[in-house]
Parts: sequence; C-alpha cells; structure tokens
Amino acid sequence: MSSSAAPIHGNYHGYYAKRPSVNDPRLELLPPGTFKGKCVLDVGCNEGWVSCEIAQSHGALKVVGVDIDDSLVRAAWRRRRTVWSAQGPPSEDAEPATTTTRKRKRMETAGEPDYFPASCAHSHGPLPIPPSSPELFPHNVSFRTADWVNDAIPEDAIGYDIVLGFSITKWIHLNGGDAALRTFFTRVATVLQPGGLFIVEPQAWETYRNAKRMDKRLRETAQGLALRPDDFPQLLAEVGLGEPVRLGSVGEGGFHRPVDMYTKL
Ligand SMILES: C[S@@+](CC[C@H](N)C(=O)[O-])C[C@H]1O[C@@H](n2cnc3c(N)ncnc32)[C@H](O)[C@@H]1O
Repeated sequence: MSSSAAPIHGNYHGYYAKRPSVNDPRLELLPPGTFKGKCVLDVGCNEGWVSCEIAQSHGALKVVGVDIDDSLVRAAWRRRRTVWSAQGPPSEDAEPATTTTRKRKRMETAGEPDYFPASCAHSHGPLPIPPSSPELFPHNVSFRTADWVNDAIPEDAIGYDIVLGFSITKWIHLNGGDAALRTFFTRVATVLQPGGLFIVEPQAWETYRNAKRMDKRLRETAQGLALRPDDFPQLLAEVGLGEPVRLGSVGEGGFHRPVDMYTKL
C-alpha cells in the first residue's frame, strides 16, 4: 500500500512530531532490561522511531518493524540512518576482551545516542553504515512493508520474544472489523515464543468515533463491531496469553493511553 490522502490505517506522516518520541515514555514503563538480548517485532512501526530506540538503546538482539504503508517504511529506513549518524563513536574499551566476552563488550561499548547534533547530518548528509556485527545498531534493526494482520513476513517463521502493538488495535479493528482483531491476536500468539511478551497500547473505544469520520468504509465497519477494548484480555486468553499486567498510562492529551503486557503461556 502507498500512502493515501486519508490515513485510514493510522498511517500518519510526521507522527513523531506530535508525540514525544526520543526516550519514548511508553518504553520507560517497562521493567528495565525487558528488551535485552531479545528478538522484537514492532507491528505498525510507522517511521521507525520506536524500533530504532529499542535497537539502539535497549539492548535488543534484533528488531523488525513492519508497517502497511510503504512510504512510512522508507521513512523508517531513513530514520535508521539518521539515528546512526548522530551516534557517538564507541567508548574506549580499556580491558582486553577475551573471545567469550567480546560480543558482550561490543554491546556495552556502542556509541552514545544523540552524540552529534542533527545539524551534522543535515549539512553533510547521513554517515555511511560500515559492516559490523548483526547484533549491533543499526544492523540489528530492519523494516518491512506488509499488512501484518493478513500477510506473514519471513522473520515470523523463526518467531519473536516480544511483539509490540503500540496504537494500532483501533486501526486494525476499524479496517477489518472484529474478525481482523481476532486474526491479529491469533497471529501475535502464533509468532511469540512461550514466555514471550505482547506489549500493547490499546486505544480507547471513545476514540473510534473521530477516527471513523475520515472514511465511509470505516464508518460502515464500525457499525458491525461487537468487540470493545475491554474484551481484549478475554480475547487474548482465548489464544493462549495470560492475564495482562497494566504497566501504567502515559502520553499527553489524546495520546494518554495505557500500556499492557501479556505473557504467552
Ligand atoms: C497510529 S500509528 C502508531 C505508530 C507506532 N506504533 C507508535 O505508536 O509509535 C499506527 C501505525 O500502524 C500501521 N498499521 C495499521 N494497520 C496495519 C497493518 N495491518 N499492518 C501493519 N501496519 C499497520 C499504520 O500504517 C501506522 O503507521
């Protein structure tokens, strides 16, 4: 899909100009170390800011961002390069690394984020990305275009430790109805390893009202919706996820939403 005039999938451009995004407060709700060494799928990654932050600053082994809108996915690849260009040089590794500790040390000595001002990349262009270890930023983050509710991506076959679904349930629900929401939750349960986490930021039912105004098809779908966000714990239990833990609610104004964490049983 390419971007259309009405962002009927929540495929907003410039989304991160509207909500705080560097040191995303939603990620700060999670227990420290949640992403360390984990394989993560970010469904509805938009322009890739959250995916890049997890890959660069939260120690994830691998992050895959997927979005239905190809123009956003292209912006996410650009974001990856921008974030890389602002990253500082690796800190001095004074102690000699043994073979067994080398990998861990590489992760610990990755450069500081936001070390170079954004004006550097603006004036001189983004820095080239040299070959390096796949677990090091930015090699540990990649993006794909797909309607993930209906189409698998190659990485799904291996599975993930964590699936993120930030601010996406409303758009899946309004576009595909109750059936699409059930399919989404089933797909999440299928790709998660046992013990894996589904971290979701559901939008409140009251916010569907404004969203459906933008398109006749969304209004028609909305008329047939029987499920509500309050039903999500029950729906996720049916596909094998445990009781959610509500981590808190963050965000300014209309972006003030809860973040829930489910564990695959
Ligand atoms: C409101 S934005 C949220 C962006 C990001 N998750 C965040 O919260 O920072 C919703 C994103 O989900 C994407 N999206 C909606 N339906 C999708 C689907 N079926 N598959 C993949 N991406 C989808 C949209 O294109 C949009 O970028």
